[in-house]
Amino acid sequence: MNALQLSPSDFRTLAAQVTGLAADYLATLGDLRTFPEVSGQSSVTAFKEALPEKGLGSAALDSLTAVLDFSRPPSPRFFGYVLGSGEPVAALADLLASVLNQNVTAWRSAPAAVTLERHVVEALAAALNCRGYGGSFCGGGSMANLMALAMAREARLPANAAGARPGVVYASSEVHMSIPKAMALLGLGRENLRLIPADERFRMSLASLREAITADRAAGRVPLAVVASSGTVNTGSIDPLPEIAALCREYQLWMHVDGAYGALAALAVPERFAGLNAADSLSLDPHKWLYQPLDCGVLLFKDAKAARVAFSYTGDYARSLTEDPLEGFAFFDESLELSRRFRALKVWLSLRYHGLDAFRRAIRADLRHAQLLAQQVAASGRLELAAPVVLSAVCFRYLSESQPADSDRLNAAILRRVIERGRVYLSNATLGGGFALRACFVNHRTTEADVAQIVPEVLAAADEVLDAR
Ligand SMILES: Cc1ncc(COP(=O)(O)O)c(C=O)c1O
Repeated sequence: MNALQLSPSDFRTLAAQVTGLAADYLATLGDLRTFPEVSGQSSVTAFKEALPEKGLGSAALDSLTAVLDFSRPPSPRFFGYVLGSGEPVAALADLLASVLNQNVTAWRSAPAAVTLERHVVEALAAALNCRGYGGSFCGGGSMANLMALAMAREARLPANAAGARPGVVYASSEVHMSIPKAMALLGLGRENLRLIPADERFRMSLASLREAITADRAAGRVPLAVVASSGTVNTGSIDPLPEIAALCREYQLWMHVDGAYGALAALAVPERFAGLNAADSLSLDPHKWLYQPLDCGVLLFKDAKAARVAFSYTGDYARSLTEDPLEGFAFFDESLELSRRFRALKVWLSLRYHGLDAFRRAIRADLRHAQLLAQQVAASGRLELAAPVVLSAVCFRYLSESQPADSDRLNAAILRRVIERGRVYLSNATLGGGFALRACFVNHRTTEADVAQIVPEVLAAADEVLDAR
């Protein structure tokens, strides 16, 4: 027998051990610190053992407890960044996806996986009122945004054959960093990304957008696309999508909506996302607000032809041998990726297990939790909101009489202390150049009691920081 082969009974035993570990972990999640008591050096020391020449067998699993101990848990009180908490039915599907090991390149390689992915993508699009959109799963919002801008470039200033020419892309100053990265990678250049000022609600200013487009045209430059955000990473603000769509039509620009953070909330509050279905392309991140385990991004597009123009370049060995449109379908004609994991399985199983309504309710709970925190911040007397709460991100800071730079230092010290205390996990945002604490609710495990811990924790951390000064 090949040394790598595992008997079915050994697999069963190991799987039971791993799922047992996972189940125990999930059972204690609420009691764990939100960040483990580890340092960079202690984590290196914990995992420095050389890889063995001779296998350890099932004893190899013993070290998994160290992996858990050194991990930042998907706690009910994790409110950092924009990150879901990992829905366990989906995690089980991920195990099966790895066992099946489908390479979701094309139908002929993975008939069930390709068919399911197309079905789930279309169903998700329809649930967001984007009926008729196609698309595919990918690693995350950054990859989806990169592919979207590649499509925009190919549709307006084709570059695949002869190389990139400068074309201008517009986005608000609040846009996610993946957009400037995509500009660089696509050869468009970050200097050709116009960062349009945002208004007091952190939404792209339409007047400034029009001004920038007309100025570029007058100077002989080629406007290419507008990236609107439906949920900016800092504050969750939603750019004025219908008006941006009208401008895109007027100037024949590609409209991409970065919905990685927010757009899936259209499942629960569609009225806040009017204009989403005007987008030529739309990024989603089920590993954020659909609670799926990493990784799980989606790029949706209105016109599959535009995706093929951007991505289709098929080597002879991969050419389809059938005329059947279903059996001849290949994701690699519409995506940057060739070898692809069966990501649709987790989304499909988790949506079927819980039902769409459960997800809509979880999203509404997150929205409620954000409003609750906003009220508690306002009522604290020692904290102030730093931005309107539009979706589920709450930015706030400790009120201080001191100069802005000192207030920034104080708030940064409070954040470090909050994380060290390990009872809630927050992150930060820079708003108008100032440092703010930030809690983002995309966590199906969070209860109101968890939310109620945030303000007391921040105040306790602030007292400790001020006492030590
Ligand atoms: C608005 C927005 N766009 C894009 C991204 C990037 O997504 P990912 O981390 O999945 O690449 C994020 C991540 O937080 C985001 O909030």
